[in-house]
Amino acid sequence: MSGHTFSAFDATVLKLSKIKNQSGSITAINNDNYLPFDIKRVYYLYDVPSGESRGGHGHRRLHQLIVAASGSFTITVDDGVVQRAFTLSNPDYGLYMPPGLWREMDSFSGGAICLVLASEEYSEDDYFRDYDNFKNYRLAL
Ligand code: TYD
Repeated sequence: MSGHTFSAFDATVLKLSKIKNQSGSITAINNDNYLPFDIKRVYYLYDVPSGESRGGHGHRRLHQLIVAASGSFTITVDDGVVQRAFTLSNPDYGLYMPPGLWREMDSFSGGAICLVLASEEYSEDDYFRDYDNFKNYRLAL
């Protein structure tokens, strides 16, 4: 999918598996063709103080699936023209984020855990940290 330009409309909520019984539930995410990328890294965000926001960056190449493994939060996806907000609050749904989008995350509930499956290992080179740079990159596409 390299070379493809994604818009905010390509950010999509995917239903994940859920194996449920009286003693609880399991969601399994495999490195199969259900996700539009191969998983190379998993990380999670937690202990976010009330009122704090995260994100505030874009990625050049990274595909991600973002899951509210516990609690809830809102992700605003921005392609430089269109902004779309998604509230995640179910561990059996995940937001697929293609590359080339700015994101802000806020409205974290107490105890929220933001689980992220990512297509690449961590690389600072992949980040847009400055919104104006990001916007110029998008305008030049
Ligand atoms: P960052 O992605 O900027 O998080 P947020 O946008 O939620 O604030 O990462 C914050 C810090 O964590 C940054 O210094 C880089 C480091 N980090 C890693 O070392 N490895 C990782 O996989 C991630 C996601 C971040």
